Amino acid sequence: MCGIVGYIGSKEAYPILIKGLQRLEYRGYDSAGVAMLHEGSFNLFKCKGKVANLESLVAQHNSVGDMGIGHTRWATHGAPNDVNAHPHASGDGNLVLIHNGIIENYSTLKEALQTQGHQFLSDTDTEVLVHFIEDVHAKTGLSLFEAVRLALAEVVGAYAIVLIDKRNPNQLICAKKSSPLVIGVGDHGEFFIASDATPIVEYTKNVVYLNDEEVALLDRNEGLKIVTIQNQIKVPYIQALEMKLEAIEKGGYDSFMLKEIHEQPRSIHDSIRGRLNLSLGAVRMSGIDEHSEKWTQATRILIVACGTSWHAGLVAEYLFEEFARIPVEVEYASEFRYRDPIILPTDVVIAISQSGETADTLAAIELAKERGAFIFGVCNVVGSTISRATHSGAYTHAGPEIGVASTKAFTAQVSVLYLMALAVAEKRGTIAQDRLHRLMAELNSVPDKIEEVLQTNDQVKMIAEIYKDSSNALYLGRGYSFPVALEGALKLKEISYIHAEGYPAAEMKHGPIALIDEEMPVIVIATQGSSYEKVVSNIQEVKARKGKIIAIVNIGDKTVRELADYTIEIPKTDDSLVPIVSVVPLQLLSYHIAVMRGCNVDQPRNLAKSVTVE
Ligand code: G6P
Repeated sequence: MCGIVGYIGSKEAYPILIKGLQRLEYRGYDSAGVAMLHEGSFNLFKCKGKVANLESLVAQHNSVGDMGIGHTRWATHGAPNDVNAHPHASGDGNLVLIHNGIIENYSTLKEALQTQGHQFLSDTDTEVLVHFIEDVHAKTGLSLFEAVRLALAEVVGAYAIVLIDKRNPNQLICAKKSSPLVIGVGDHGEFFIASDATPIVEYTKNVVYLNDEEVALLDRNEGLKIVTIQNQIKVPYIQALEMKLEAIEKGGYDSFMLKEIHEQPRSIHDSIRGRLNLSLGAVRMSGIDEHSEKWTQATRILIVACGTSWHAGLVAEYLFEEFARIPVEVEYASEFRYRDPIILPTDVVIAISQSGETADTLAAIELAKERGAFIFGVCNVVGSTISRATHSGAYTHAGPEIGVASTKAFTAQVSVLYLMALAVAEKRGTIAQDRLHRLMAELNSVPDKIEEVLQTNDQVKMIAEIYKDSSNALYLGRGYSFPVALEGALKLKEISYIHAEGYPAAEMKHGPIALIDEEMPVIVIATQGSSYEKVVSNIQEVKARKGKIIAIVNIGDKTVRELADYTIEIPKTDDSLVPIVSVVPLQLLSYHIAVMRGCNVDQPRNLAKSVTVE
């Protein structure tokens, strides 16, 4: 949440900052701001709303400066207005700061500063932080770098910050704890700073991921210096960035979401490639092979995640229980971390996170780690905090996901979890070889099946036209399709603002059935498999109450077609792989409905892609 960028070098900072903010806008879009330093004064602009508003504002003013900072905000403290927008300045106006995170002890710090005469313009915790740094700097007489370090030692909470001092045009200071921050190292004293690597990739491939409780000094002449809050000197570890620029651009699509939906055959292929060895008849995942015993001896698997990743976790529960015969519990990370859970040393904890930055998931990991469990991460963003906090893991190779509503990350997560379940089952001897080989071949064919599903786009669009004005929708599925029902409902509500609920199809009669009338679209995943007949009965129940049925069925299905108002046909696959294939038409349905309702599908209101606050 909140995107931050910084630049120091010989180029004009503003174009680099604004482009960076556009790339980071998925992290929050309540307000945006920039400050460039030029000849001892700041060109500082900030305003409510999206980065485009900021651009219009800056267009009328002077934006020069060869160093600067920029911020796009997801509001935590204080309303999303101009005054609360970042950057925030110190009382004397010499320092400006941008911040991603939450300063938990800000009110204590604020009171103390107020008694000393500090006055605040905004309601933010960030303004308190910059005043506090100013105060420590003035009182100690130390360098600003030292003062930042000392001030942060007093701060409770999460932060990624960048700070400039108008009296010092040669240095930028940044620091991080629990919020992400990447430093791009250019040539000749040029540095880029950002919340993720997307604003940096077109300028340099050399990056340093700052660790928690590290403070960095970026000096035009002296280069990069990093110390910990405890004042230990760290040698910067420069890594090569593997991201490609095309991967973070829209590539001819109207939105990132649509592009990402269409990328799924490729992203699933990339996620299973090299791991699914059909000629050997085996699944090879280094994170599982290297910790073989942890998996074979596991008495339980705990899955922690949030949002769409939690839905992928639900699918994984079915997969691990069916194939590997290990009991699984799936937990919302936010609940798990605060309820004193029983965690045993023989537990394996799987943490699923697209961004690898979700604060609750990270906290759940830390808790499970403290209690001795083995932690395995399934992340999409390489080098992210969660991927570094786990004992081992497997990346989903979905490529950067920019649309706030997750699509390709979900199918990549399920694909990787699928491979993991097979790999563990193979090691534990809980799956017959012929079944293993059949499932491997079937998984390998999923990208082609999704290509086929994408051909239903026009038909889905036609259905969207009919139901775009609904105020409620119900999604039903059984077994492996229950998590898909949840995910379908989440996609619809987050981008089109239509209230939607996902339910196990049979459970419908214990509540939601009361809502069904001729206005209510009921989307049912009714593919042929073990619970097909049962789902057909549930469809009958909906029909008897005059509900409108949109069913996802297998190609050639006749039974459901006679009952449903509309059917969308998808290729047949094994029950266990249905979630990956059947979620695609639901993504398309939400997408078209949202576009028809005039919603911004990439940046739905109030949401952010990377939730770095709890
Ligand atoms: C936010 C995003 C969702 C995502 C969830 C968990 O709510 O909008 O798309 O599923 O966070 O994020 P993670 O990065 O941990 O998967």
